[in-house]
This record gives sequence, structure tokens and C-alpha cells, in this order.
Amino acid sequence: MAFASKTVLNAASGICRLSVRNTSSAPKVALLGASGGIGQPLGLLLKTNPKVASLALYDVANTAGVGADLSHIDTAAQVTSHTGPENLHAALEGADIVVIPAGVPRKPGMTRDDLFNVNAGIVRDLAEAAAKACPKAFVAIITNPVNSTVPIAAEVYKNNGVYDPKRIFGVTTLDVVRSQAFISELKKLDVSKTVIPVIGGHSGVTIIPLLSQVQPSAQFSDSEIEKLTARIQDAGTEVVKAKAGAGSATLSMAFAGARFVDALISGLQGKKNVQCSFVESDVVKGVDYFSTPLELGPNGVEKILGYGKLSSYEQSLVEAAVPELQKNIAKGVKFIKG
Ligand code: NAD
Ligand code: LMR
Repeated sequence: MAFASKTVLNAASGICRLSVRNTSSAPKVALLGASGGIGQPLGLLLKTNPKVASLALYDVANTAGVGADLSHIDTAAQVTSHTGPENLHAALEGADIVVIPAGVPRKPGMTRDDLFNVNAGIVRDLAEAAAKACPKAFVAIITNPVNSTVPIAAEVYKNNGVYDPKRIFGVTTLDVVRSQAFISELKKLDVSKTVIPVIGGHSGVTIIPLLSQVQPSAQFSDSEIEKLTARIQDAGTEVVKAKAGAGSATLSMAFAGARFVDALISGLQGKKNVQCSFVESDVVKGVDYFSTPLELGPNGVEKILGYGKLSSYEQSLVEAAVPELQKNIAKGVKFIKG
């Protein structure tokens, strides 16, 4: 990892200050899609994360304004703003983590797959630039349809000869965050101590909350299990409908994205921790990418922890998810391979 040094001349005092930054403990995060509904609150949360040394904001529009605004916050992260493809390389150079919420969101009546035609090309182009500028960086993809955009980024990295499956992540943290909120509300649990794995992918039937593994352990009737599972699978649509044409989840997504990036940074800094994320995986036969709990560390995915013992209902959910995941993944791969 790079070692950076910078000399700053203060014109008023004439004092020359040498600031030295060891990026192994102080990462640079590049946020692509920084002016959007997710990008702005996520940028705010990253700017206020004391672990972030440098925050590069990139978008095709309005980045300078968002950057000026965030840069007035008195926290350590140094903010830079970059607008348009000609400035993308500068945003990415030296990045340790690249976070991608760039792309269009759903409107009522749309599926996540309906976003493919626009978002596939956006993720392809951003991944191409990241593969060239910062091939070792962890890449956290928020842009939908995640089940397809992660394979797209992986194929782009393969074409550039820099693919490392341990470093490309589909962000599914919002499914975990929602599950923990809904379960603790229903069972009157302390939400800060409620933990549940959500496996599979990030759309409809591919979102599989493992209610049999909730910690602290909770009892659910069959009807509660079916209703909670359906609500978690449809939670994105619940927000899309409530926003009535003004987009999809942004605030809860920013919160979830910030939590996931914080976990990646902890891992990078040697503090191993566990998160669910959609990555290349062989835990389910015939499916090349799957979300399960992962151990994160300095190299990204240190261990794929698998999903443990499933109830028969959860097993049936996995079986229902497989054909949809296969279709979504193949569509992403085909987009790059032709
Ligand atoms: P938005 O329209 O508010 O913001 C998107 C931003 O991307 C805009 O600022 C736009 O200018 C920018 N953009 C477009 N093309 C770009 C390019 N080529 N390079 C850089 N920036 C570009 O949308 P949003 O609400 O922030 O949602 C963004 C994406 O996140 C959508 O695809 C949405 O479906 C997805 N999403 C995923 C999850 C998840 O759990 N993974 C949750 C919520 C939303
Ligand atoms: C979500 O789960 O909220 C996101 O994937 C956005 C969407 O389109 O539902």
C-alpha cells in the first residue's frame, strides 16, 4: 500500500507543515455517484467516519457543490470533487475502497432487472476505470440489479487481468439492516443486539433471511416466518411505492452502505469481522455468486463462512432463488462476454 507525503505552505503564517499519511491505516475511499440520492447521505456518513482519511467524490453532475458542502465539516477526511469521465481516473487513483451507487433507481411497477439496460453500461465503464486506476481496491457495488452488476464488474476485471474474487462485493447490507429492524420490532428485542444472516442475492425471491438463526434466538410461528420473509423480500418495493415515483431507498441505503464500508476498512486495518455480501462463491451448486456471511480482513474476503443449518422452509427459499440467480448472473456475464 502507498505511503504519501504532502508539504503544505500556509501563506498567512509562512509556516511550512509536513503532513505524512500512511494509507495502510488511513484509507482513501472513492464514491462514484456521489451527487445522487444515496451518494449524498453516504458521502456525509463517510466524511464523518474517523477511519476515512480521504474521500474522493465522483459523479457526472453536481459534484463540486456536494464536495464544497461536505468539505466544510470539521472532520479529518480530506474531500476532493471530480466531475465527468475525464476526471474519473484522478478520483480513483490511490483508492483503497471504491463504492458505486451510480445509476438509475426504480419507479413504481419496475423490477430491479428493469434497470439493467441503463445501469449495466454505467457499472461496466466505472469498473473499467477502477480496474486500470486502482486494481487492488475493494469494490462495493450498490447499483442495481446487484445480482447482475457484480458479475459485470468481475468480467471487466478479468478482461483487464486483475480480477481477485476476494475484492469485489455486491452490497446486500440493507437486507440485513431491514431484517434486524423488522425482527426486533416484532419480537421486542434490543435492535442493537439483534443479528441475522441474509443470504442469496438482492432482488425479490433471491433475498433469503435466515430467521432460524436470529441472535438472540427468537421463536416465530409459521405464519410470522412467511409474513416476515415476504416483507423483507419486498422491502425495497415498499419504499419505492411510498416514494411514489421519487426513487427508491436512499437514507437507509446510505446507512447500510456506510456500515459496510466501515467493515471493509476494519478488515483492511487488520480487524477481522463478519458481514453478508454477494460475492463469487461456490456454496450453492450451479450458482457462481451468492451472499453468505463472510469473514472480512486485509485481503477482502478472508473466508466464506457459508450459511450453516437451514430449516426446511429456508431450504425451499434457496431452491426458489437458484433459477433467478442463475438468470441474473448469466445476463451480467453475457453483457460483457457478448
Ligand atoms: P439517484 O438517481 O438519486 O443517483 C444516482 C447518481 O448516479 C446521480 O447523481 C447520477 O448523476 C449518477 N450517475 C449516473 N450515471 C453516472 C456515471 N456514469 N458515473 C457516475 N455517476 C453517475 O439514484 P439513487 O437513489 O442514489 O440509486 C442509485 C442506485 O442504487 C440505483 O441503481 C438503485 O437501484 C440502487 N440501490 C441499491 C440498493 C442496494 O441495496 N444495493 C439500495 C437502494 C438503491
Ligand atoms: C432496495 O432494496 O431498496 C434497493 O434495491 C432499491 C430498490 O429498487 O428496491
